[in-house]
Amino acid sequence: MSKVRLFPGDCREIMRSSAIQDASYDAVITDMPYYNQYGPEIKLSGRKALGGEIDFDVFDNMNEWLEFTNDWIELCIRKLRKGGTFLSFTNLENASRVVDIIEARGLQLRGRLYWHKVNPAINPRKNNYLSAVEPALWAIKPGGKVYFDFTTQDAMHSWRSGFPWCNDDDLTDIIDIVIEGGITQGLERTKHPTQKPIYLMRDILLRHVPPGGKILEPFGGSGSTAVAAMSLGMDVDICEQEEQFLAIIKHRLSRPIQTEFVEPK
Ligand SMILES: C[S@@+](CC[C@H](N)C(=O)[O-])C[C@H]1O[C@@H](n2cnc3c(N)ncnc32)[C@H](O)[C@@H]1O
Repeated sequence: MSKVRLFPGDCREIMRSSAIQDASYDAVITDMPYYNQYGPEIKLSGRKALGGEIDFDVFDNMNEWLEFTNDWIELCIRKLRKGGTFLSFTNLENASRVVDIIEARGLQLRGRLYWHKVNPAINPRKNNYLSAVEPALWAIKPGGKVYFDFTTQDAMHSWRSGFPWCNDDDLTDIIDIVIEGGITQGLERTKHPTQKPIYLMRDILLRHVPPGGKILEPFGGSGSTAVAAMSLGMDVDICEQEEQFLAIIKHRLSRPIQTEFVEPK
């Protein structure tokens, strides 16, 4: 039976408090504020508006976002056990900045995963490709046993495509892997604007967290990491600062886990 603790408030304050013990987590699995620059909202007749700012992702400028990102990553590293995994989603535009932060803080970058959304949002401006890929960076805290469930050679098939965001020479040894599927829909969908699907989070947890392991999720959102962790019998401490999202998390965690699974099309 997994143990879930939900901490309302700013994850940085929570991680600075004694509530979250140092060096006690097998993994930090999260989905940070990306600092996306979508441009003004576009209203479409008969559809949900597209683009525009998401409140929790608004920063005055790049420096403010970098300072914030440095701050919470440093705190997370303190909370990880030696050999523990740090894995966070980011966007393609800022992934290399996050890599710089991770490495400057002493984590070793191990791999990059790409979530390929097979049903991405349309681009009504028609000025660029659809935004269909979100990377996740996997790094480890040196000095201890690393957990990685290698499964089969086929499943761990590494993938290099020469995509423009992969042209960093320093990263040539890094494994890239694609997880494909739909964005969250149907019964599983909540009102959270950036909800990650459960199939994706379960896939990641199965590979990167030992059975019965303990996870820290500083940016809870709608609670997808926690729902996935519970379904796998893992313990998770989850922070979230917005009241409206805390209500969603509580609701999801109070329901039978099985009803959450909507397999990708
Ligand atoms: C990208 S979303 C996470 C979405 C989540 N992966 C899901 O599947 O629902 C980031 C979340 O972090 C929250 N957040 C942003 N800054 C925070 C902070 N300093 N402390 C705690 N939560 C924060 C936001 O309110 C938002 O819900």
